[in-house]
Amino acid sequence: MKEEEKMQKIGVVGYGNMSSAIIRRLLAQGYPPKAIVVANPTLDKPSMKELKKLGVEITSDNKKAAAGADRVLLGVKPKNIVTVARQISGVLKPEAIVDSLAAIVDLDIVQRALGPDVKAECVMSNLGAEVGEATTAICLGNKMTRANKEESVGFYKKHGAVSLQKNPKMMNAETVVKGCGTAYPAYFIREMARQASPYLSEEQALREAQQSFQQYFELRTPHNGSACYPAQVVKKLEQACISLGWSEEQARKDIEQLFRGYFELVKKTGEFPDQVIKRVATPGGVTARVIDRLEAGDSLAHAFAAGLTHAEGLGQTISDALNKELDQQQAVDASVPASIPALPALGSGVKYLEGVMHDAVSQGVNGSQQNLSDLSGSSIHSLKPLVASSLHKHGSSESLLGGRDFHSRSFSGLAGGASKFGVFAQPRPLAVAPAHRSAPVASATQKLAQAVGDAAVKVVRSLAR
Ligand SMILES: NC(=O)c1ccc[n+]([C@@H]2O[C@H](COP(=O)([O-])OP(=O)(O)OC[C@H]3O[C@@H](n4cnc5c(N)ncnc54)[C@H](OP(=O)(O)O)[C@@H]3O)[C@@H](O)[C@H]2O)c1
Repeated sequence: MKEEEKMQKIGVVGYGNMSSAIIRRLLAQGYPPKAIVVANPTLDKPSMKELKKLGVEITSDNKKAAAGADRVLLGVKPKNIVTVARQISGVLKPEAIVDSLAAIVDLDIVQRALGPDVKAECVMSNLGAEVGEATTAICLGNKMTRANKEESVGFYKKHGAVSLQKNPKMMNAETVVKGCGTAYPAYFIREMARQASPYLSEEQALREAQQSFQQYFELRTPHNGSACYPAQVVKKLEQACISLGWSEEQARKDIEQLFRGYFELVKKTGEFPDQVIKRVATPGGVTARVIDRLEAGDSLAHAFAAGLTHAEGLGQTISDALNKELDQQQAVDASVPASIPALPALGSGVKYLEGVMHDAVSQGVNGSQQNLSDLSGSSIHSLKPLVASSLHKHGSSESLLGGRDFHSRSFSGLAGGASKFGVFAQPRPLAVAPAHRSAPVASATQKLAQAVGDAAVKVVRSLAR
């Protein structure tokens, strides 16, 4: 048996800051690249090219990454979690473990999107994972066995310190402390450097500030009080954790680990504090809220409390929207017939779709490659011949179906519209060829996308009738 066949197969859906930190660590530790498949909509970004060079299979097809994997990491933003979870749920191996890396989204929502029998867990980690110094909390779903738990703890121990969080409601607090955590050392080192002598360059000031924090951790003993800036910051960070429910010991360990993760990360990447903060803080997200409050002069405990309230508010909004979407999808799943009626029975829905496709094609706005095979799900499969025949009818060549000249945004709209009705496809961002990237064209494309999406909804509705 080849080495990679003995290793757990890892599938990644969404390759951004967090999931790439986890995968880079695995690869650096000698994990076989052939045992990893990574799916991401953008294939030509540096981090994806880096994977390809190392021999990791990359794809834009989320299902391909999930099918056959023993562990699937969902590394997308919270707003995309339900969509991708629904996409992959049908292709998972029965024993696969699915890790939602997303902040804010409750485990029960992820579980609902994946299906009740899937082994799911929420994992709140941070960028220290890249250098084996993360601070990770895992909240297990009810299908996870004791053996699964051990497997997961073992997996994340390769990336740093791990704790189990039994109370799913505490995951937002875990986000404030651990998920956002790499940004705190960056923020306070930057603050300390700002107060440094005006004769130091910015780089020197940052280096000295970081050294002060490093020395503080090297020298500190459990009870040595100190009036120095690092000691004050660390104490306040620990107290802020305690205000969220941490024990003194856990607070001490977690804050120390956050700094260790930061020091090792910047040693490897050479990043400045601002760059690290940017990779952790999504605009409008939880880290951004904590940092905004600190910059406004709030105490750390108040800033953490504001971060937690913000996480809970965002979580509620996302949960309400996602539950509504899932309710709608389930209602349609229940009503769509197992076998698709013959073409003539589809009637007006098809005509409408054909008309819209005609408009889309006659606009002559070329999109980048978007293959019909990117769409998936039983109902969308049945739509393919309809779309194909409609394109042919309107004088479009075979090449359109290969995707080269296909109107990418329109098809995204089709996919997006259809997905509202239980047909799961991957809506993609606008990717108009450079020559056409003008505002009026983008806006026309947007309208067409919407129209085609609506048409798809109509067709799916007519299928359901
Ligand atoms: N950053 C952190 O420090 C941190 C810490 C703890 C937890 N988290 C959590 O980790 C998750 C990811 O955060 P991040 O900072 O890594 O975000 P990110 O860098 O923006 O990564 C998100 C990735 O998802 C991809 N994506 C978007 N839509 C997709 C779809 N439909 N299917 C597959 N992939 C899709 C994006 O592709 P493109 O390349 O095309 O944009 C991007 O690579 C979030 O839920 C966040 O709450 C992050």
